[in-house]
Amino acid sequence: MTADLFENLDASAPIREQLAVGAVLLRGFARPRQHELVAAIQAITAQATFRRMFTPGGHQMSVAMTNCGEVGWVTDRSGYRYDAIDPDSGRPWPSMPPLLRDLAEQAAAEAGFAGFAPDACLINCYEPGAKMSLHQDRDERNMGAPIVSVSLGLPATFLFGGPKRSDKSQRYRLEHGDVVVWGGPARLAFHGVAPLADGEHGLLGRKRINLTFRRAR
Ligand code: SIN
Ligand code: FE2
Repeated sequence: MTADLFENLDASAPIREQLAVGAVLLRGFARPRQHELVAAIQAITAQATFRRMFTPGGHQMSVAMTNCGEVGWVTDRSGYRYDAIDPDSGRPWPSMPPLLRDLAEQAAAEAGFAGFAPDACLINCYEPGAKMSLHQDRDERNMGAPIVSVSLGLPATFLFGGPKRSDKSQRYRLEHGDVVVWGGPARLAFHGVAPLADGEHGLLGRKRINLTFRRAR
C-alpha cells in the first residue's frame, strides 16, 4: 500500500484527484448530504420543472434542465444567457436553498477557492443516452469565480480538456456524491459528458442529476 492509500483511509480527508492546475475532483464530497440534496432538488423541480431547451442553432438538448438561484441559465433561438425569470412559468427561479449554497461554498474552499458565493445553480437531468457535448462555461460575467459541479444518481463519464477545443480531453468516471471544482487557470477548460449508460440507481432510479454552481453576475 502506498502512503496515498493510507491518507484516503482518514475519514476527515476528502479523496481528491487533480484534473489540471485549478481543477480538482472531490470524490464523495456530497454523499453525507445526499438525502437532503435530493429532497431540495425535488422541491425546486416542483416549482420549476425540468425542460429540454433548444440551442440557438435550433437543436433540442438531450439533457433536461432547470435552475435555482437569483438567475438561471437558459438557451433558446436568441442565444445563451442568464435570466432572473423562468421562461416557462414567467416567475423568478426558486431561490437557492442554504444547503446547496453551503455545499458549493465548502467544495470550492476545499479546492482552494475560498469565498465562492454562487448566484446561479443549473440543474441538469440526464436519462440514459443523454449527453453534453464539449463546451466552455463562458456566459458568466465573473470569470474569477470557479464552477462547482455536483453529481448524483447514475455514474457518468466526464470529459475534461484544456482551454482549446482541440486540446486532448481526459475521461473520468463521476459517481453519486462526487464534486468537481474548476477555476483559475482551468476556468475555461472544455468539458462535457459522454452518453449516459443505462442503469438503476438506488436513490434516483434511471437518471443522473448534476448541479452546476456559478457566479453569473
Ligand atoms: C455542465 O457542464 O453543465 C454539466 C456537467 C455535468 O453534467 O457533469
Ligand atoms: Fe458546463
